[in-house]
Amino acid sequence: MKQEGGTPLLEKIRRREAVVGVVGLGYVGLPLAVLQARTGYRVVGIDEVSGKVERVNRGENYISDVDDAELRQVVGSGRLKATTDFDALRQCDVVLLCVPTPLTPNKEPDISAILKVTGELAARAHPGMLVVLESTTYPGTTEDVLLPALTAGGLKAGQDLFLAFSPERVDPGNRSFKTHNTFKLVGGVTPACLRVAQMFYEQSIVKIHPVSSPRVAETSTCSRIGAGASTRLRVAAPSPVKVTRAFIENDSLIFSEVTDSCRFACTSYSISPETITRSAVRSWMS
Ligand SMILES: NC(=O)c1ccc[n+]([C@@H]2O[C@H](COP(=O)([O-])OP(=O)(O)OC[C@H]3O[C@@H](n4cnc5c(N)ncnc54)[C@H](O)[C@@H]3O)[C@@H](O)[C@H]2O)c1
Repeated sequence: MKQEGGTPLLEKIRRREAVVGVVGLGYVGLPLAVLQARTGYRVVGIDEVSGKVERVNRGENYISDVDDAELRQVVGSGRLKATTDFDALRQCDVVLLCVPTPLTPNKEPDISAILKVTGELAARAHPGMLVVLESTTYPGTTEDVLLPALTAGGLKAGQDLFLAFSPERVDPGNRSFKTHNTFKLVGGVTPACLRVAQMFYEQSIVKIHPVSSPRVAETSTCSRIGAGASTRLRVAAPSPVKVTRAFIENDSLIFSEVTDSCRFACTSYSISPETITRSAVRSWMS
């Protein structure tokens, strides 16, 4: 089924008829799943840990940023269900990937969980699906890793499958800024991918900053990536600023777009865990 730039999917999103899958029900995924359910979508949360799935299905909260009553309400009303079964992805119109990417000793993100869930998703991807990677990762992951895997079966990005990167920027424990009012960067693989992803997030998040590609969004939030990348990119005396600059040069990104996005991504923090990004922006601006 040709989607003509995402039109049928846009309608489903607008009417709250889309089914949203959230993969990884941790600090990022569970608040996001609850937010999407409260926005009016039917949400399926998928996690490999059966204990978490059982707790969600009992309406039992385990993440401090989630309100106990809100979780009970969305589970009780049937808006949020959790499972360990990836086959649930077949019924999803929107899939948000929120799996962990811990830093390796080389200070590069370990993307093994992304690779694993991408494989599960590729086997179940279908026309009219929006997929957004939210995990923190190195520039290029969306276009070099997810895109080939998800389109290997013949789906065409921007026509029947919509793929974007939108880095999660939640600051756990922050009393002022939660998932719904933490500003969000979005970069699509094609203009149609961006349009669908932006429209989706606009339903539930106060401010969206569209950027020209997933790489820009990935680079704007990659400042903690260190030693391994600096070797690969041949950066002497690595620092967050130098590594990020090297990514910009390596991928021929527009410097001012990345720095603007960096600034935007930090706007909604009162106390940011990403102080490195902020100091990087400050030093670029000075
Ligand atoms: N927590 C934060 O403050 C924060 C802020 C910004 C960005 N991020 C990024 O968001 C991403 C998620 O972080 P988090 O803090 O929510 O992690 P987390 O460890 O709290 O949650 C990840 C969840 O994914 C599940 N999981 C792991 N591998 C899986 C797989 N193969 N299939 C299904 N489920 C799987 C885990 O069981 C866990 O419940 C990371 O990339 C992180 O860097 C986190």
